[in-house]
Amino acid sequence: MVCQILWAYCLILTISNGAYCVICYDNDNQSCPCLTGIDPKIQLIVTPEVEAMDKKRSTLKISSSSVLAERSWSGSGVNKNKAMVEHLQHYGVITSKKVSEVMETIDRACFVPDGTPPYVDSPMAIGYNATISAPHMHATCLQLLEENLKPGMHALDIGSGTGYLTACFALMVGPQGRAVGVEHIPELVVSSIQNIEKSAAAPLLKEGSLSVHVGDGRKGWPEFAPYDAIHVGAAAPEIPQALIDQLKPGGRMVIPVGNIFQDLKVVDKNQDGSLSIWSETSVRYVPLTSRDAQLRGW
Ligand SMILES: C[S@@+](CC[C@H](N)C(=O)[O-])C[C@H]1O[C@@H](n2cnc3c(N)ncnc32)[C@H](O)[C@@H]1O
Repeated sequence: MVCQILWAYCLILTISNGAYCVICYDNDNQSCPCLTGIDPKIQLIVTPEVEAMDKKRSTLKISSSSVLAERSWSGSGVNKNKAMVEHLQHYGVITSKKVSEVMETIDRACFVPDGTPPYVDSPMAIGYNATISAPHMHATCLQLLEENLKPGMHALDIGSGTGYLTACFALMVGPQGRAVGVEHIPELVVSSIQNIEKSAAAPLLKEGSLSVHVGDGRKGWPEFAPYDAIHVGAAAPEIPQALIDQLKPGGRMVIPVGNIFQDLKVVDKNQDGSLSIWSETSVRYVPLTSRDAQLRGW
């Protein structure tokens, strides 16, 4: 009943805005109230059909006529990593050749827990009250950071979870660069290393240009700073100063900011050290918090 009321609320929001329903179209939080208790194979939710892509801000606009469509690509016979990437290209989410190549090379199936459908465009639970982000969010963040993930550059992935994005970053910056994951749940660090070992980024882990560490991501990882690119995979109430300090002049950070209502912020550090900050889109991520707070109730 509660679910139905929330569902109706989301529907009204979507139709009245003709746009993006933050609550239903949950980017990162497994606990979207509308989906509670519904078999993931038959979820009826806002489809990722992209009506238009605002080129400047890359904002997804969802058509109100596209509500109530099945979001699982496997439902339409599409179940391979390459096909997932092609769908994201088809719907205008991926426009970069480099990002499509990287997402084709790093098979998402190496990163989701056994029994979890890897290619569905939805966040999936990975334990410890954490999730692997949805493919469209991974694609969006990779595109926003692409210019700061050139060979030889340094990239920091805070809240690295499954290690998926850290592996993508490592592939993009190459063996002369540095890709660093920081995750505060030790068990997730162990499993992320196992995931990366199964993936195309395994040689970079072995050579040492890719590393994953247990730590509080709010403090960054000073050892390999300054970073050309910083990605934060959990929502901060405000942008942590340590991360700003560890961003190189000319560098870019992508970070969800907020509590219930969150924006994906893009933070550019100018050459004089000043910051230019803008909001890319509304999102919903799990919080960037303490380990104790995250594990409460787990
Ligand atoms: C939504 S998940 C994203 C994981 C990753 N981007 C992925 O797709 O696999 C957010 C991650 O942030 C981690 N996290 C939350 N607060 C943190 C903190 N203070 N320091 C480090 N990691 C944190 C969580 O444990 C979780 O793994």
